[in-house]
Amino acid sequence: MKSLKNWDNETWLSSKKYIYSFNKFILKQKKLNKHSKILDIGCGRGKIIGDLFKKLKLINKPIGLDIENHHDKSKKIVFKKIDGLSFVSKTKKTFDLILIKQTIHLLKNNQIKKLISICKNKLNPEGKILILSLDPKKNEIPSFSLMNSKLNISFKRDKKILESISKIYPKIITKYFVFDVKILKKTYIKMIKNRFISTLLNLSDNQIKKGLDEVNIKYKKNLKFKDRLICLIISK
Ligand SMILES: C[S@@+](CC[C@H](N)C(=O)[O-])C[C@H]1O[C@@H](n2cnc3c(N)ncnc32)[C@H](O)[C@@H]1O
Repeated sequence: MKSLKNWDNETWLSSKKYIYSFNKFILKQKKLNKHSKILDIGCGRGKIIGDLFKKLKLINKPIGLDIENHHDKSKKIVFKKIDGLSFVSKTKKTFDLILIKQTIHLLKNNQIKKLISICKNKLNPEGKILILSLDPKKNEIPSFSLMNSKLNISFKRDKKILESISKIYPKIITKYFVFDVKILKKTYIKMIKNRFISTLLNLSDNQIKKGLDEVNIKYKKNLKFKDRLICLIISK
């Protein structure tokens, strides 16, 4: 698959409001303090854990892993350009929080199982793994018809992935993070042009162009919707 370069580039996902409410959600699920050790697998620009570093006055910078070296990364993290599974397989470090946010669907099924199992062994006592994914049952992401059908295909796979993780870890806890998005249609159009979501990566320029025409007709000037994530929590 082509790489995701424009995921949170000037979108609601990089807004202060989003990062503030997301980190409030994280801290509700897992108590953290300045001694906490944090790992983010598929960290993107690392703005979320960078904000946790500042908020919690962490002694150790959180570690962020990504196979893509995004520009404008947070300076408040230790960034490693490496595949998540390779890193956790080798590291001797242990963590209080391992965050895997909107990344699991980009991995192969056997990699997912291995990754989670190794991550569980890398948790400190009371440590938690938080796996977040777009809620496949309640999605409101504005889309055009081709994008919608591609999304539905990936949601089917996501459902299976989430179910199989829940089967392996029966003590898993499920929570939901919901963020109210208000965005101008023209900003969202730019996001689609930038192929901000993995379902858009393999569409041709012509398919994107047709999709944008559809979005222009279908939606009003201001878009309002809920960005819904499902969160699976695995404890030590
Ligand atoms: C949709 S973005 C999510 C970024 C960030 N977690 C967030 O929620 O803002 C997914 C990220 O996972 C990264 N990624 C994909 N496969 C990976 C792997 N095997 N190991 C580490 N990162 C990976 C991508 O490069 C991309 O930056």
